[in-house]
Amino acid sequence: MWSKNFAGGALPVFLSPMAGVTNAAFRQLCAQQAALGLAESTAAEKPQFVFVCEMITAGGIAHRIPRTFSMLQFFPGERRAVQLYGTDPAIVAKAAEILCAEFGVELIDLNFGCPVPKVTRKGGGGALPWKLDRTAGLLGAAVKAAEPYGVPVTVKTRIGIDAEHTTYLDLGRIAQDVGIAAVTLHARSVQQAYSGQADWEAIATLVNTISIPVVGNGDLWEAADAARMRKQTGCASVAIGRGCLGRPWLFRDLARGPSAQTTLPRLGEVNQIVYRHAELLAELNGEKWGLTDLRKHMAWYYRGFPIGGELRRQLALVSSLADLRQLQDEMDASAVFPTAELGQPRGRQGNPRDKVHLPYGWLDSRTLGDAEVPEDDTSGG
Ligand SMILES: Cc1cc2nc3c(=O)[nH]c(=O)nc-3n(C[C@H](O)[C@H](O)[C@H](O)COP(=O)(O)O)c2cc1C
Repeated sequence: MWSKNFAGGALPVFLSPMAGVTNAAFRQLCAQQAALGLAESTAAEKPQFVFVCEMITAGGIAHRIPRTFSMLQFFPGERRAVQLYGTDPAIVAKAAEILCAEFGVELIDLNFGCPVPKVTRKGGGGALPWKLDRTAGLLGAAVKAAEPYGVPVTVKTRIGIDAEHTTYLDLGRIAQDVGIAAVTLHARSVQQAYSGQADWEAIATLVNTISIPVVGNGDLWEAADAARMRKQTGCASVAIGRGCLGRPWLFRDLARGPSAQTTLPRLGEVNQIVYRHAELLAELNGEKWGLTDLRKHMAWYYRGFPIGGELRRQLALVSSLADLRQLQDEMDASAVFPTAELGQPRGRQGNPRDKVHLPYGWLDSRTLGDAEVPEDDTSGG
């Protein structure tokens, strides 16, 4: 169990929650890579890791919806960390209690940063911190619900709705006041979505504004970037998102420490990791589902390797472990890692949004009062 507020130790490094990606199989793969790195490390103080589950709706848990419960899958021995999305303090509190009491969850993270229009249009995710009263109510209710179990509650947010409507400093202060254990800042606004560069200066500003730990997030592609972010911003730890897509060995590098050499697997080694990923997914929900889920990872894993267009096309359609093995057997296992890929953005990027979709009149006041914010069963970050 992490002690409440992570007292008495360095903050862990986080695998940032990614809807559709950070399921139990992917988390286990990352954890296995981190364990390799820890075994190789000679450092006196080794980092801890938290691999956060995909975002789950609080309403689905509070109302015991089977489809939502089915997302609560964990690998054996996993230290369970779940990100909750919700807009109603009572429902978030109920969900937090269920997670702690019935699922042995050891860390709850609250989503205050989702930029998906379906969510912000209703005042959720990244739109929610604009309403200070609701933010305080929701964070406070979650902390109170988790308290009897000694479970820390963290919050993950963005800089604000757009450059003119920032929210992160207010949210940070509220989080500190109500007993949140740490604030993760993805240093972009909702309007920016995943475009441009994360503003690490904002992370430094948050570090200088609040006394609870800040976890920096945004554009960490290599272990060296994580060390640079810590140095540049003073953040207590980091959260890794897109940098580990198709490169779970980033956690091996992070575990070995900033001065260790970057892992550069040959194609044969990448194949082994991809196959392991496929096996883990198949164990989780069956081979058919598992191999379908794996397809989205293929372009990330094989980016830059000289495998040819036809193999890439077939990998994106793979449907069984045997198929996967056959396709991998056609590759040149000795091909070296394409170093031009190092330090390069991967995963979602895209353009800034023309406008952020918000409920009518949302920006007119910083309080919500008794108004309801309807919850949406959706995902994203
Ligand atoms: C596919 C995908 C799904 C995401 N889902 C979530 C989510 O459910 N909750 C969340 O807080 N952030 C989510 N995010 C955002 C990431 O956790 C992270 O904050 C963001 O990608 C910035 O970090 P990075 O530059 O290291 O990727 C998602 C990102 C991606 C690419």
